[in-house]
Amino acid sequence: MNHSQKMLRDNALKGKTIVVTGGGSGLGKSMATYFLELGANVVITSRNLEKLQNTAKEMEAATGGKVLSVACDVRNYDEVEAMVKASVAEFGQVDVLLNNAAGNFISPTERLSANAFDTIIDIVLKGSKNCTLAFGKHWIDKKETNKTVVNIVTTYAWTGSAYVVPSATAKAGVLAMTRSLAVEWAKYGIRHHAIAPGPFPTKGAWDRLLPGDLKEKFDLAKKVPLKRVGDHQELANLAAYLVSDFAQYLNGEVITIDGGEWLKGAGQFNLLEMVTPEMWDMLEMMIKANKK
Ligand code: HXC
Ligand code: NAP
Repeated sequence: MNHSQKMLRDNALKGKTIVVTGGGSGLGKSMATYFLELGANVVITSRNLEKLQNTAKEMEAATGGKVLSVACDVRNYDEVEAMVKASVAEFGQVDVLLNNAAGNFISPTERLSANAFDTIIDIVLKGSKNCTLAFGKHWIDKKETNKTVVNIVTTYAWTGSAYVVPSATAKAGVLAMTRSLAVEWAKYGIRHHAIAPGPFPTKGAWDRLLPGDLKEKFDLAKKVPLKRVGDHQELANLAAYLVSDFAQYLNGEVITIDGGEWLKGAGQFNLLEMVTPEMWDMLEMMIKANKK
């Protein structure tokens, strides 16, 4: 067994329909593909229908599952409502919403136009809110239960991060929404979870966060105590568990999957890992001498 193997039993998601926003690329595509392998029907949505349709074909051929592609800009509530209708019309019901769509880029905050800041807030926070509200209203109105919303956030949702301030601000809001609705909508049989991934290489993120030779200059694996980046299957395994019926007593949790990256940045003395055993011998002598 190793971390890149598939975790859940066959048909673990059979009978479920799962909507993955931003499901045409990157982590959304990886998670959606695994859901299909586990027997779910999947709806993938984003702004680019052609990209979605190509991805859907690829995923259907690889898994034998059924994929519906729906063009939907999550910033626009009317489009989101139409996406809910199209998903229900195709599959009869939707059981899981995975809010994965995002926008992000690095920039000193003072260089951002008001519209640049709004663009990220609108995709990440308003987009997650739009999808959650539209599906929540639908489920509550139809009295359907055993529903799950999973929100993809990041570890800087609670630490904050310089140079990605709109994204940090928006993801913090999504995390607050996750925890708030976990309590408020539990009575309707709707559970909420968040996943906070560390670095998982994707073209979308790497082009915008590590453009040019930044990829070589900032080897993100070095920031992780486990000294590697994440494997998409590891994230897909976690997401599949959270949306499965095995996770029915989990609600309101944010699960970090980052090899210990954010804690390494947080611990005051963590930098001491650079100290060699010989230096430790000396330091120990100095500390003990001071005591005398
Ligand atoms: C400064 C920028 C900019 C940049 C865009 N803008 N890029 N400002 N630096 N690099 C400004 C534009 O000038 C414009 O403002 C405003 O932002 C909107 O830009 P548009 O291109 O018109 O917006 P749009 O077409 O909606 O595209 C949205 C986008 C784009 C976010 C800018 O990158 C995109 O489509 N991203 C989707 C995918 C994505 O971002 N994936 C990465 C997720 S990674 P003005 O004032 O000129 O009109 C992630 C990882 C988190 O979230 C943690 C990692 C460890
Ligand atoms: P990605 O491939 O760029 O995924 C983002 C997706 O969002 C794209 O498919 C994009 O599709 C869609 N999207 C963007 N704007 C949209 C809009 N207005 N309406 C609908 N869809 C929109 O990047 P990724 O790395 O896989 O990111 C996926 C998620 O993981 C994001 O929530 C990100 O914040 C999170 N995350 C990633 C990492 C990482 O290391 N990769 C780490 C932490 C968190 P279109 O362009 O076709 O619309």
